[in-house]
Parts: sequence; structure tokens; C-alpha cells
Amino acid sequence: MTETIPKVIIHGGAGPALADQSALGAIRQDLHTIVASIYQRLQQGAPALDCTVYGCQQLEANPRFNAGYGSVLQSDGQVRMSAGLMDGARQSFSGVINTTGVAHPIDLAAFLQSSCDRVLAETGAAELARELALPLVDPRTALRLQEWIAWRQQDADQTMAGVVAEDPRARRGTIGVVVLDGQGQLAAGTSTGGRGLERPGRVSDAAMPAGNYANPFAAVSCTGIGEDIIDECLAARLVIRISDGMGVGSAFALSFAEAARNQRDFGAIAVTRQGEVAWGKTSAMLLAAYHIGTTWGDTLDLDTGLLTGVVCP
Ligand code: GLY
Repeated sequence: MTETIPKVIIHGGAGPALADQSALGAIRQDLHTIVASIYQRLQQGAPALDCTVYGCQQLEANPRFNAGYGSVLQSDGQVRMSAGLMDGARQSFSGVINTTGVAHPIDLAAFLQSSCDRVLAETGAAELARELALPLVDPRTALRLQEWIAWRQQDADQTMAGVVAEDPRARRGTIGVVVLDGQGQLAAGTSTGGRGLERPGRVSDAAMPAGNYANPFAAVSCTGIGEDIIDECLAARLVIRISDGMGVGSAFALSFAEAARNQRDFGAIAVTRQGEVAWGKTSAMLLAAYHIGTTWGDTLDLDTGLLTGVVCP
């Protein structure tokens, strides 16, 4: 097989502009450090699926982002996390829904890739974590706890928590990693603490093909309001349009124009088999960073509102 130049794009959430713009520098640094560490593994020949899991683990471990450690709290003060993983080469989806007490929900999704039951919720996910002897961890950080306490005390009408942990203002987040490896294989992973402040039992898009999808032609991870992502079936919609022959730029432009008309609030990142890296958003802000070998960049300084972009190899 001919060697492909690897590509990777990651995201750390989408939503309204940050309250504290001075935080952008630190967020950019974290995203660039993580995207560079994934790229290094790709250059060493690691497969797309492994690099995607590794990238999700790095983002889950970073308390700034709403996944793993630093996940938002739900209305009852608990953290319930969801993750989806898709191997593009085998077109195989796995995921966990509303899991608790683990550091890396993506590890459960990775284990389930080779299981006959590939999506587990709550009790099933907890049983699997016990079977795998994963250490019990409390993913709540002091900042997320403060956010929840402020909501309880002052603003019980707030419908979602912050994209990144900064101050108690309404934002939302998720993390995602999309990779094309040196063998030309694609994978996508998405992990989230959810929308934040939601009713227990609410199911996120992250562990659905609406929020995370890949096949041999393209891979997509979404972020933003899960209900909006589900209503547009965004990840699968983009991948199928690209697989059916639409150019990635046109697929993003069309899908995001439709989303804007429907007043959706989200973002998505993608990599294609040809090595194109793409992103789109209807949210004011998309926290994404990419590395394509010759160059790297991010979407942190984009104007607010509907925008899509493609970086060609
Ligand atoms: N996109 C994350 C969520 O809404 O759960």
C-alpha cells in the first residue's frame, strides 16, 4: 500500500465566545500540544484508531475540557460521561452512554470495538469498568463544582454548563479527535460530560453516529448542543455526502447552511481519505486545532457565526 501523509484535527468544544478572551492563549497551547503529540505517533506509524484513542485520553485528562476529568455536572450534581469511537476502515462503531467513575470513557469504547455488544449504557458500562478493573475516579473538579453551585444558588434557569472550565457562565463542550494514518485509514472519537445541568438519563450525541461517524472515505466528530446534532444527524450526514461523491467543502457548506436555517448550535471537524481537513460551525466559537504534516493551525480566532473551512494537503 502507498504511504499516506497522516492528518489530524481535534476539538475541545463549541459554543458562545469565551467570557475571558485572555484564556484563549492557554487553550491554544493545550490544543497544539495535544495535536502535536498525536501527530508524532502517526509519524511513528501508529494506526488511526490507536491515535484517536490516545488523543481522546489526552483531552479527557485535561480539566479545561468537558470530558473525563473536568466534565460538567448534571442537574443532580453528578458527572455522567459518554464516548463514541469509530474505526473507518471496518466502519465499526462502539460507545458508552452515561458512564460514571472512570478517568477515560474512551477506553471503554475502545474495548467494545472487539465486543459483540458495542454500545453499553449506565449499568452495562459500570459492569465493564469493574471487569476491566479500571480505577474508580471522581472526575469532578473544583471549578465545575463551583459552576454547579452557582447554578443551584442563582440561576436555575441556565440550561447548560461551560465549554471550558473558566467562570460560571453558560457554555457547552465535548472533545473530539479525527485521524488519517500513514496507511490511509480513518478513525473518529468523541467524548463528553454532556450538555451540563441536564436531567439525569439524558443521552448525548457523542455515543451516536449523529455525533461521531467514520467510514473508509471520511471521519467526523461533532460538538455543541447534542439535541441539535442529533436532529441534523450531522456526522453521518457529512460522511455520507462525502462518500457519495460530494466534495468535502460542498458537503460542509451545504450541511452547515441547512443547520443555520434550522437554528442549530454546533460545530464539526473532519478528515477525508484524500487528506483534506475540514471544520464547520454555527456556534460563535469552535475550539479546534489541526496538524497536516507541513503545517498546523487552529480555529480559535474565527469570526462568530456560520463558517466552514477546508485545509487541502
Ligand atoms: N455534544 C455534547 C452533548 O450535547 O452532550
